[in-house]
Amino acid sequence: MKDLTMGTLEQILAGPAPTFEELKPLLRPEGVINGVMKADSDKCNSCGLCMKNCPFRCWEMGEDKIPKMKSNYICFSCFNCLIACPVDAVSVVQTFSVKDAFFDTDFPGIKLPLDPKDAQGKPSEWTEVERVILNRRSVRNFKKDPVPEPLIRRILEAGRFAPSGGNHQPWKFVVVTDPEFLCQLEVACHAVWEGLHGMFTSDEQVLNLVKTIPAGVFDPRVQYGLSCIARKELLVFFDAPAVVFIGGNKKMANPEIHAGIAGQNMNLAAVSLGLGFCWSNFGAGVNFIPEIMAKLGYGDPWTVQTTVCIGYPKFKQQGVVPRHFRPITWFRPGSEKPDIET
Ligand SMILES: Cc1cc2nc3c(=O)[nH]c(=O)nc-3n(C[C@H](O)[C@H](O)[C@H](O)COP(=O)(O)O)c2cc1C
Ligand code: SF4
Ligand code: SF4
Repeated sequence: MKDLTMGTLEQILAGPAPTFEELKPLLRPEGVINGVMKADSDKCNSCGLCMKNCPFRCWEMGEDKIPKMKSNYICFSCFNCLIACPVDAVSVVQTFSVKDAFFDTDFPGIKLPLDPKDAQGKPSEWTEVERVILNRRSVRNFKKDPVPEPLIRRILEAGRFAPSGGNHQPWKFVVVTDPEFLCQLEVACHAVWEGLHGMFTSDEQVLNLVKTIPAGVFDPRVQYGLSCIARKELLVFFDAPAVVFIGGNKKMANPEIHAGIAGQNMNLAAVSLGLGFCWSNFGAGVNFIPEIMAKLGYGDPWTVQTTVCIGYPKFKQQGVVPRHFRPITWFRPGSEKPDIET
């Protein structure tokens, strides 16, 4: 069997109906190496916050009242459990990676942020903006308290003033703070993803999806998120008191990237205002529900690119975590060859 690469996948999809076997490395990847986290029994006070802050519900409480990883889980190494722990008891044993499959990309080592230096290379301090960027983490556990509207307005202004190619500003924001409508949205989006999850997990039906769904959606991390949504272990909108839908205009260039840039401006503004924030691409499930799209006021040429959820954090969910450090290639003045920094 030929190796499945992006090139061979494109060839297969351009040809007659592909078989399950041909696409197996994409559809049912093997060689997934889960992240492994550990709670230190000498430090742990059994508060359970690491478990609550795990989006994929990887942890369970052990008989000794020390959390341990479940036997059937996927940890994608976000390290949110690590930063929620008030006594620094959680540590990284192994990071997520995938070997010998379509998704085999390199997973370089993880590093904390490099120490800040000034223009002369001397030790320096992070700026306020850098501090917000580095400490920002996805917040998925919110208090019930509503977000004051003046603060939501400031967050939307941060989005409105984002840069855009040709100054197109191809976004349209819809804010939902009505708890009843938020409930309706959660139920409706859950139903969409539960249905799609059934198709993804069926060896016959998944072949009908493969031509229309981008390859990245089959990544085990996305698929496990989808199964957590289907099982209601992960909520689409995290029970947040405020959700912003970011619409993109399909007639303008790159609505997706522009939604991302506007959304990230909003994310940083929200954090700077002491609010928690999490993106939810699963919220874009509303695109499959014409009545809801009509109620939100999105008609052709608008689609919902993504959604963001905002509220006051229930407990500390911010903090610095390590990240992959992919080698950076430099071409400095006068250099004869690239300098690859690892
Ligand atoms: C475009 C985008 C969509 C995302 N969608 C979801 C989502 O649907 N559900 C979710 O729990 N997290 C979602 N996230 C959050 C990511 O899982 C998170 O950013 C990543 O794990 C890194 O963790 P951190 O944000 O805490 O640094 C999304 C993030 C981005 C940027
Ligand atoms: S690193 Fe992320 S996915 Fe893994 S156990 Fe911790 S919170 Fe869960
Ligand atoms: S958050 Fe820390 S202290 Fe609390 S249960 Fe988890 S490991 Fe133990």
